[in-house]
Amino acid sequence: MKRVALLASGSGSNAENIFSYFNSRKSVDFPLVLSNNEHAYVHERAQKMGIPSFSFSKNEFAEGTPVLDLLQKYAIDGIVLAGFMLKISQPLLDAFPNKIINIHPALLPKYGGKGMYGHHVHEAVKNAGETETGITIHYINENYDEGNIIFQAKCPILPTDTPDEIAAKVHELEYRYYPEIIEQVFG
Ligand code: GRF
Repeated sequence: MKRVALLASGSGSNAENIFSYFNSRKSVDFPLVLSNNEHAYVHERAQKMGIPSFSFSKNEFAEGTPVLDLLQKYAIDGIVLAGFMLKISQPLLDAFPNKIINIHPALLPKYGGKGMYGHHVHEAVKNAGETETGITIHYINENYDEGNIIFQAKCPILPTDTPDEIAAKVHELEYRYYPEIIEQVFG
């Protein structure tokens, strides 16, 4: 069974959804959570589910060694990003070639790249008058949101939708599909 580390910078609602999904399955194991934010709520969610979580600074993630040492200690085979805000540094990419995946709350290649996260994405989609949005699950490479696309799912946008309402529709897609795609990639 593959051992996958989950990286998150914030609330971790996707993380909790993923842990719950795999709790009742024996296809992928999530033995470790890493964050660049010691105050991120994802630590509480991990603790509730008995999963060890650690924080590293932006520099430690960029330099790679302390993070790689811990990933090796936990015999990690792959990495899932779920709301992780830092670019993945070359040492991590080299250690996990084609084994790091991410979920982006829009239909890449549009509405991606540096600064395009969370509410910024949904506001940009709304302001552009898009009639649909969705999620993109993709491999990670050296640039933000540019790796090979694995899966996309769409949802309609009504002219009356606020960015919050768009976010809610996108989160539903994330919770619905991310665990299944993780299972396809790492299971
Ligand atoms: C999600 O919208 C995800 O698509 C993006 O970051 C957000 C994470 O939300 N990468 P949460 O921390 O899982 O609630």
